[in-house]
Amino acid sequence: MADQFAASMASVEPGSVPALRWEEPPEGPVLVVLDQRRLPAEEVGLVCTDVPALVDAVRTLAVRGAPLLGIAGAYGVALAAVRGFDVVEAAELLAHARPTAVNLAYGVRRALGAYEEALKDGSGPAQAAAAALAEARALHREDAEASARMAEHGLALLEELVPGGGFRVLTHCNTGALVSGGEGTALAVASAAHRAGRLRRLWVDETRPLLQGARLTAYEAARAGMAYTLLADNAAGSLFAAGEVDAVLIGADRIAADGSVANKVGSYPLAVLARYHHVPFLVVAPVTTVDLGTPTGSEIEVEQRPGHEITEFTVVPPGAGAEPGTGVPVAPLGTQAYNPAFDVTPPELVTAVVTENGVVSPVTRAGLAELCGRSRRG
Ligand code: MRU
Repeated sequence: MADQFAASMASVEPGSVPALRWEEPPEGPVLVVLDQRRLPAEEVGLVCTDVPALVDAVRTLAVRGAPLLGIAGAYGVALAAVRGFDVVEAAELLAHARPTAVNLAYGVRRALGAYEEALKDGSGPAQAAAAALAEARALHREDAEASARMAEHGLALLEELVPGGGFRVLTHCNTGALVSGGEGTALAVASAAHRAGRLRRLWVDETRPLLQGARLTAYEAARAGMAYTLLADNAAGSLFAAGEVDAVLIGADRIAADGSVANKVGSYPLAVLARYHHVPFLVVAPVTTVDLGTPTGSEIEVEQRPGHEITEFTVVPPGAGAEPGTGVPVAPLGTQAYNPAFDVTPPELVTAVVTENGVVSPVTRAGLAELCGRSRRG
């Protein structure tokens, strides 16, 4: 069960919105996630007291974005362990809550591994639960560190690729502090450019159908005081044609071993546009998003979401994932919809992959494997 409460998040300083936090009230530990379905209208925490509530929060995109899904998955395992639920069953449920972002299963595996290791070493359930929680906290911290490193590498790359004045950067979906223990992935690079006085304009794709760009990236950009402009996804072509884009910066949900990038649907058309207009197309993601076990892009499972997200406007509260028939209809009753949550961009359209360990460009199987083999701080 999850109850909702109006958290004190309205007073959070610009740029420091906590996407999730572990709390230990007298009634027992809980995971509180900032309910992203309700942004930007309201900053409300969603209190998850058990794994089914967290799984529902993941499926309905209250908590979302690849790195954050990994962190949430790890805390979810800790939650099950601390509250005495079946940890293996909880891990299974969490790992399969959404299929595309590889970070989710990775985070779950790490916390479960720490839990099982502790039991094997003779610890009791309480100590094993503490080990799972410590692992979730470690992952949370590591993600913040990775985020800072990606921002450094990404800014250096932008400076190399776009010499001269300020950058006009186009981004898609939401890749900032809302998806991370730190400042995020692609948006962390834009934030670093902003702080360095180099961000001339952040072009924000609205990101149909659930509007992660309009609701979340614009919210983060406004809080950070960036110069940003929102556009309908299908306006991107005319923006490129007008010579208004210096670089595209996106995140990733899974990068296959060959460098194919699964990210929010609409990323692939941007890559095609970028190539045609000779604009760098940069993917920013932690190495935990690179899945060397998935050989090529065609093996990446792309999540298919319900058609009513397209045929009805459901994005305003109560939020994405609302029951069919409860939104404002925008198509005739019974219309079939095609609603993949992600698309896959082939490596030849990606100028560079930026990770905390450095940059791969051109994007090759060997280059990616090499980068993933390096220590985190390499
Ligand atoms: O469906 P969502 O909102 O979870 O999709 C998120 C994205 O596609 C992000 O671009 C991706 O997770 C990278 S975030 C660092």
